Amino acid sequence: MTEDFMALARQAERNSTAAQDPDYPTFHVAPPVGRLNDPNGLIVDGDTYHAFYQYTPHHPRRLVYWGHATSPDLVNWTQHAPAIAPDCHQDANGAYSGTAIATPDGVELWYTGNYKDPVTDEREATQCVVTTPDLKVFTKITSPIIERQPDGYTAHFRDPQVWQDTDDLDNPAGSYRMLLGVQRDNLTGAALLYRSHDLRNWVCEGEMTFPDAHGAFDNFGYMWECPNLVRLRDESTGEIKDVLIFCPQGIDPDREGFDNIFACVYIVGNLVGAELRGADGSFEEVDRGFEFYAPQVYARRDAQDQAVSWNDVDGDPKLLIGWAGNADEDAQPSIESGGWVHCLTSPRALALVGGRLVQRPFLPGLPLEGASPSSLLVEAEAGQVAGLEGSRAFRFAADVAYEDGAALVVDLGEASGVRLRLEAGRMVVDRSGSRYPHGGVREVTLSGTESGRFELIVDHSLVEVFVGGGSRVFTFRAFVQGAEGQPSGPRLSADGRVRLDEVEVARLD
Ligand code: FRU
Repeated sequence: MTEDFMALARQAERNSTAAQDPDYPTFHVAPPVGRLNDPNGLIVDGDTYHAFYQYTPHHPRRLVYWGHATSPDLVNWTQHAPAIAPDCHQDANGAYSGTAIATPDGVELWYTGNYKDPVTDEREATQCVVTTPDLKVFTKITSPIIERQPDGYTAHFRDPQVWQDTDDLDNPAGSYRMLLGVQRDNLTGAALLYRSHDLRNWVCEGEMTFPDAHGAFDNFGYMWECPNLVRLRDESTGEIKDVLIFCPQGIDPDREGFDNIFACVYIVGNLVGAELRGADGSFEEVDRGFEFYAPQVYARRDAQDQAVSWNDVDGDPKLLIGWAGNADEDAQPSIESGGWVHCLTSPRALALVGGRLVQRPFLPGLPLEGASPSSLLVEAEAGQVAGLEGSRAFRFAADVAYEDGAALVVDLGEASGVRLRLEAGRMVVDRSGSRYPHGGVREVTLSGTESGRFELIVDHSLVEVFVGGGSRVFTFRAFVQGAEGQPSGPRLSADGRVRLDEVEVARLD
């Protein structure tokens, strides 16, 4: 008899104690039970934000669903029944990552069906679809739309981003494109493009190429996961650019950073056909934190149920959410304390400033408000921030000015556990005293302009640090020590004297 996968998941959720865990986030998406990984199918529908995600309710049993949460304000999230269960041949070993696209009939969720032969362990990767008229009722098409990878590639062929391309001059109504992460037969990674006029018949256009990159991306890791293409207007030059965000597995550049098991990077250019022109071979990490991977950009459907064009760069902000986790790092304290592991990041409005990707926290449900006093002189003695005493779920932002080599020190946790140290050209994050010391101490070099505005978002065991107004981001999990394992609001001190101006705070607890 086949199992009733939806009933299995609902049962595990009913028995869950995750939400009572003091480490469980309150304004970020975390799994109702079990394990969460990549964000999937992110779409704003009118005024509702949907976040689907890779969801394994019976962790460590690898039955991978798409979980589903919605929010009116990106802060208050409601969990729903999973939207996709691994209940047929094509996805028996996981309904893997993918995206949402608004269509004339509703929304389609595109995902990778992962099947592994139980005898040979051979993988079959297919591109599959679930349709929904209203984002409430989900109907799976139980035969794959793209049945296998093209010649020249292994079965590491996954994570479709599907969007409507109004650049397609041959077809004034626009045609659809699909971007996939692949592995070539020679075991190097790449991104593959497909095109379709009806979302059902797809033609492979070939790999995305980088004609101006001098071969920099020809042998760039052994597999590219979760490629995402986003169009932005550069705020300093006014030029329209296409930013490719992806996760090349197995790169080890000889420079600072790239300390996680797999990296997530971006490249800037202009997509013409399958060529990402102007990408000169340079790439940067999207986030420097201990935990960050597989981010995705929101698609949109407006109040009249029309798709908002992917090509539109001057409308609503393009919002990015990532996975605050990494592959193979599930041994976190929350498994013991609440039977859950990992969560998503805050949404970040993306901007391009002089070719650099900038991420600004976007939390309409938790707006920052001017603190009183709005300026502070921080010196040796540690002090609480007015308004955030004892808080476990808050935002804190300020313009920071360091007097001659001074450093701002931010402690989180009652008996400490996590310490941030910010100087004019450097940030040091130390979680070696926490219940999850993995990675210990990490240093990030900051450029001159990156010191300025600092924002800290803390949600129980999740911390996100934005420096230089979001030009550098550091996401990590902080299982701090202290009373019942709970952080107690930020405590600030300084080596030397540090001035904080335009202090703003917001709290949720
Ligand atoms: C990235 C990833 C994707 C895959 C999914 C499986 O974290 O490995 O490539 O679709 O997770 O859960």
